[in-house]
Amino acid sequence: MTESSDILVHTEAGVATITFNRADKKNSITEAMYAAMADALAAAEQDAAVRCVVFQGDMAIFSAGNDIADFLEQVQAGSPASGERPVWRFLRTIAAFPKPIVAAVCGPAVGIGTTLLLHCDLVYAGDNAAFSLPFVNLGLCPEAASSLLLPQMLGHHRAAEALLLGEPFMAEAALEVGLVNRVVPPAECNALAQAQARKLAAKPLAALMETKRLMKAGQAPQVQARMQEEGASFARLMTGPAAREAFTAFMEKRRPDFSHC
Ligand code: COA
Repeated sequence: MTESSDILVHTEAGVATITFNRADKKNSITEAMYAAMADALAAAEQDAAVRCVVFQGDMAIFSAGNDIADFLEQVQAGSPASGERPVWRFLRTIAAFPKPIVAAVCGPAVGIGTTLLLHCDLVYAGDNAAFSLPFVNLGLCPEAASSLLLPQMLGHHRAAEALLLGEPFMAEAALEVGLVNRVVPPAECNALAQAQARKLAAKPLAALMETKRLMKAGQAPQVQARMQEEGASFARLMTGPAAREAFTAFMEKRRPDFSHC
């Protein structure tokens, strides 16, 4: 099991709760955190006492997405996002996870902070939740099969606003398109997710798992294939001049200059 104090895992009443715990960096996700989450999911799958998983941040922030310092380090080391990296292991694991997953999202949910929700079964949002997919703005492309799942969910044109323009959308818009189940005051969000998870955990596990499997069966192979395709493109783009400029600009707290990219 990979240890990371930036990811807390707590199991109670049949629910394994995975909490982002890196508020000083807006819960941005490092390699160690992806590894810890992938391990926590693998353990939750094996543990008969776990019947449901919850992902949560705190009232102010869900996750600022991938740690950009990590991205820059990978580019400088010449080893961008290969299929073996923890992020891809985490995505493969969450996409194929057989038990129900519930998420509680307050504040910004950037990049993978939004795309991981496409692999959750129930999503509750604080009214301060802001979803954004700024892959293009970082010289990158979507991951987590979001290039497949978002157009299906939103239609091409609204997905293009989210994925090409990278424009954030708020909780009410996410509710309207079906990305979230309910919008509540931030102070109530984690408790609501926990209550719904406990309801699920009280149900017969084999029936829950079979129902989830059937709901996803038609699409599971395409999702895994698209994630692989996205991963290859993502790794290629990460070494490009636009990504390097975007990561460097973020670290230097300036606007990126794409005039030569
Ligand atoms: N990677 C690394 N560090 C990050 C980060 C990320 N994705 N997001 C935020 N941080 C760090 C900031 O560098 C800052 O660190 P510092 O205090 O050492 O300077 C700290 O977290 C606070 O961030 P700040 O931008 O000041 O907070 P904010 O409340 O003004 O804005 C966000 C919050 C999430 C809107 C903003 O941080 C943001 O847009 N982050 C980048 C998101 C992104 O592009 N992610 C990649 C997706 S693929």
